[in-house]
Amino acid sequence: MITCKGRTELLKMERATWIVQQALAECVAACRPGVTTEEIDRIAADGIRKRGGRAAFPGYRGYPKTICASVNDEVVHGIPSAKRKLRDGDIVGLDLGAVVDGYFGDAARTAIVGEVPADVAVLVRDTWRALVAGVSAVRVGGRVGDIGAAVEAVAKEQGLGVVREYVGHGIGTALHEEPQVPNYGPAGKGETIREGMTLAIEPMFNLGTARVRLASDGWTVRTADGKPSAHFEHTVVATASGPVVLGFGRYSAEGLVTGVPGETEYPVPAAPQRGEPAATTGEARV
Ligand code: MF3
Ligand code: CO
Repeated sequence: MITCKGRTELLKMERATWIVQQALAECVAACRPGVTTEEIDRIAADGIRKRGGRAAFPGYRGYPKTICASVNDEVVHGIPSAKRKLRDGDIVGLDLGAVVDGYFGDAARTAIVGEVPADVAVLVRDTWRALVAGVSAVRVGGRVGDIGAAVEAVAKEQGLGVVREYVGHGIGTALHEEPQVPNYGPAGKGETIREGMTLAIEPMFNLGTARVRLASDGWTVRTADGKPSAHFEHTVVATASGPVVLGFGRYSAEGLVTGVPGETEYPVPAAPQRGEPAATTGEARV
């Protein structure tokens, strides 16, 4: 069943996603050579707890950690480990969820560690651009396929592989609700988007083949050809005045949307410099 959320529910989701975005920003800032993904996991857990949230992933289908940290050819669901030290030239997808008062928020960003080859920087930037395109395609009365088509168009334009086995999802009182939100079209197909629908949109793009393999740990998803993969995710609500990305204070206590997000409000990150995160998602506005 697809549920549409009202103001009270959306405020809880805004709070949960805000906590996720704040903690995620702390994690991205910590992604430097020599830091382990286990240490990043700890930063995420502390970041959620100190802001009054509960981490959503521990225990979810038996998942053991707070964050998913997927390095280089790992697509999603990499399990943090004290043995996994980040190195100069790595990219790492960080995926985090939190719960406030029974309502979930879910977001992901890919961080660049040190300096990466130009094609990898482009992969990260275009996966981010695809998230912006997907969010921008959310329209009351439109279809879920419009989102996937917008995401897929960015990959096609750049010759990147779109992961098909893992998809975005509805979100609310559960981490994963209906409908599924694939990162491919066709436009004009799929569920009709209604006011108050909350969707986690999460493009996963590969530099090489779209094909992936599940590791023997039962979680880690890797590209079939060993080439790098990037992942970004926002929790979004469809409103009459357009899509609102939760977690950045746009959904206020009055239920007012303070702006309709467009590409200008979510600038494409400049080519990453040494030591800088891959993308900034506007923490300054919170
Ligand atoms: N954040 C992931 C998603 O977007 C879920 C991670 S699965 C977990 O669907 F087990 F790690 F929680
Ligand atoms: Co998700």
